[in-house]
Amino acid sequence: MEDKITLSVIKADVGGFVGHSAMHGDLLDEAKSRLAGVQADGIIVDFHVTACGDDLQLIMTHHKGVDNEEIHHLAWDVFEACTEVANRLKLYGAGQDLLADAFSGNIRGMGPGVAEMEFVERKSEPVIIFMADKTSAGAWNLPLYKMFADPFNTAGLIIAPSMHTGFRFEVHDVKGHKRIFFDAPEELYDLLVFIGATGRYLIKAVYAKDGEIGAVSSTERLALIAGKYVGKDDPVCVVRCQGKFPAVGEVLEPFTMPHIVEGWMRGSHYGPLLPVPLRHATPSRFDGPPRVIALGFQLAHGRFIGPRDMFDDPGFDEARRLCNALADHLRRHGPFEPHRLPMEAMEYTTLPEVMEKLGDRWEELPEL
Ligand code: F6R
Ligand code: MG
Ligand code: MG
Repeated sequence: MEDKITLSVIKADVGGFVGHSAMHGDLLDEAKSRLAGVQADGIIVDFHVTACGDDLQLIMTHHKGVDNEEIHHLAWDVFEACTEVANRLKLYGAGQDLLADAFSGNIRGMGPGVAEMEFVERKSEPVIIFMADKTSAGAWNLPLYKMFADPFNTAGLIIAPSMHTGFRFEVHDVKGHKRIFFDAPEELYDLLVFIGATGRYLIKAVYAKDGEIGAVSSTERLALIAGKYVGKDDPVCVVRCQGKFPAVGEVLEPFTMPHIVEGWMRGSHYGPLLPVPLRHATPSRFDGPPRVIALGFQLAHGRFIGPRDMFDDPGFDEARRLCNALADHLRRHGPFEPHRLPMEAMEYTTLPEVMEKLGDRWEELPEL
């Protein structure tokens, strides 16, 4: 049997330029030169370094499987090295997502986001890597549902014999620390009971019915790890395309509907997810709106052929226009819900600190 390849996307915010809006080129250079070193040592097959907003994205292939200590350790080392660069330039929030003092075993739970999958490379292997900034891990639930379970989005679910049997969804309860699998279309309504609640139930992965992995996402929730607000999750998601998986165009189609996600300013607001080309992955208006980029690659024996900047297409202009109209409308609510997150979600922001100071001022209502 042919060797399996592992595709690992590991990301962290280790310092922003300017504020939380983008990434300084020196950090990208540092990450590239470090990964070129480990590639020369034969530890990884190939890599691509990029940024979405203030998040540094390490995209790597190797033969070591998912959750590999050596790979996670090297990602941690790159993030630490880039933190040093960020400190030198006094960039904003240097080392922000490195929540542990030192690496221990597995990078998951230490701050960075991780999406990894292991598979045998097909005759041709198109993959799309989605990366978002100023939003939380639940942002992929709706698009993944549409790609793999909604025939109004994915024509292949009806037309293609290879996809007609549907897919299996792995859903994680990130508060209860549990997981469950659902078959679609058989258990669609059961699946939707949970994945509609995007703060708690996250689609971790999607599989073809023969067990082959089609998509994986980062489900790390920073606030749950840190117990307080330390920046948003800014998640990533990898999707294999074509053949028995949705076509490239079916994988991108959900982003023509700018769905409302949590994040934006201070991680405390709902806003529409804006699909942008890489050159616009620099959230500025009210620290947003939350945005997503899509880089497409063909894999060739683990080598990244690409990327293609998939949202750099006028076909998404209408979505962007609608997104800006929705953003305007939500912004006009100012500090009112439903622009601001509901109180339960604000628990992890800095708001409780402010409320605490006013605690003594509350009086019992007079008896009637
Ligand atoms: C949201 C985000 C920003 C910051 C905001 C305040 O994910 O990163 O909106 O929350 O700019 O940042 P601090 O508290 O670092 O001044
Ligand atoms: Mg930041
Ligand atoms: Mg970010």
